[in-house]
Amino acid sequence: MPDQSFDVKIERILPGGVGLAHADGKTIFVSLAATGDRVRVRVDREQGNLLFASIVEILEPSPDRVEPPCPYFGRCGGCDFQQMTYAAQLHAKSEIIRDCLHRIAGLDIEQISVVPSPTPWHYRARATWQLDPLQKTIGYYERGSRRVCDVADCAVLVPQLQQTLEQVRDTAPRSIPIDLKHLEAVVGDSAVSLAPSFDRFQTTEVSLRVGQESYSYNAEAFFQVNQGLLPELVNCALKHASGQSALDLYCGVGLFTLPLARRFKKVIGVESNPLATRFARRNLQHAELSNTSIVTAGVADWIRSSSVKREVFDFVLLDPPRAGAESVVIKGIIDLEPARIAYVSCDPATLARDLKKLFAGKFEVESVTGFDLFPQTHHVETIVQLTRLSGP
Ligand SMILES: C[S@@+](CC[C@H](N)C(=O)[O-])C[C@H]1O[C@@H](n2cnc3c(N)ncnc32)[C@H](O)[C@@H]1O
Repeated sequence: MPDQSFDVKIERILPGGVGLAHADGKTIFVSLAATGDRVRVRVDREQGNLLFASIVEILEPSPDRVEPPCPYFGRCGGCDFQQMTYAAQLHAKSEIIRDCLHRIAGLDIEQISVVPSPTPWHYRARATWQLDPLQKTIGYYERGSRRVCDVADCAVLVPQLQQTLEQVRDTAPRSIPIDLKHLEAVVGDSAVSLAPSFDRFQTTEVSLRVGQESYSYNAEAFFQVNQGLLPELVNCALKHASGQSALDLYCGVGLFTLPLARRFKKVIGVESNPLATRFARRNLQHAELSNTSIVTAGVADWIRSSSVKREVFDFVLLDPPRAGAESVVIKGIIDLEPARIAYVSCDPATLARDLKKLFAGKFEVESVTGFDLFPQTHHVETIVQLTRLSGP
């Protein structure tokens, strides 16, 4: 491909975090941009009428632009929003949610508020570190590659995890297993858990208090990355939760299951990771909540089973992974006819895809709230409250 460069103005930030620009009748996606930047870009990749480009020179910086403080920014694949003020990041995320809901679900919402993180730096209490035993490097994948960016100091990690990263880096290479390529790290109220265990680093159990509940988990089970926002996230997801029975799909170690168990007579949580379900059951037991059953199963398989079809649920909460819920899951929820649904999502595009199906199944949106669980990146958590329209 011949070298192509353009001088462009960034119009806005799109889902995926890239800046939108136009030149020569082509649409250009510019990485690491800020709305209003005038920049010279070099085209890296072409796909039909779409060009993917990087900034080679900032001709006139946007008022939203700041100097990224992290020395690895641009090379490390972890953060892609450090070039923006925090206010601009929140605005971009609100627009990303709005854009997906409009384009994919046909839903128009004027203004979507995004609850800020209490700390836009040093918030990340869970991380996956990549290791290259030959190069003796540890950190995150470089942008668009599987090469490990060797990171000594990560500006988004909570201090305990930063300390652990340093301890792993200081470990003699002969003590690190040669086939160790990824390390999961998570912190609770005090202790750190690493998976897999090696040398003096263990997959210990940690615990965390969120509101009035206490949760135990370890690095092999999912737990939310930004602990500072969890009380608000749980309150928002459960703000209209009432009735006799509730369903918590993709329940993990029970972040939402425990508070649901306090509000409903009967709760069922469904989760495919057997280790997570073991923690969820124990967390319920320690909270002396005996009205809840936790099922270890894929949600799709579980919802297809005939016994579920005979159950009545007033409230369904779902919090699927980034890929969203399987079609059969959305269909199953529609067939259950709950009065309310709370959809907790970490990907606005798959959320919008699933909402479109729920609209066809007689649900309507009551509210949409963003949560900035992932500052310095384009990722955003969204909670959508839905109600079932009455009538056939
Ligand atoms: C985004 S996490 C949410 C967990 C929990 N609600 C929380 O907030 O801590 C998604 C969870 O879904 C689980 N999961 C992924 N695919 C699944 C499937 N097909 N069926 C059931 N659980 C699944 C993962 O193991 C993970 O615990």
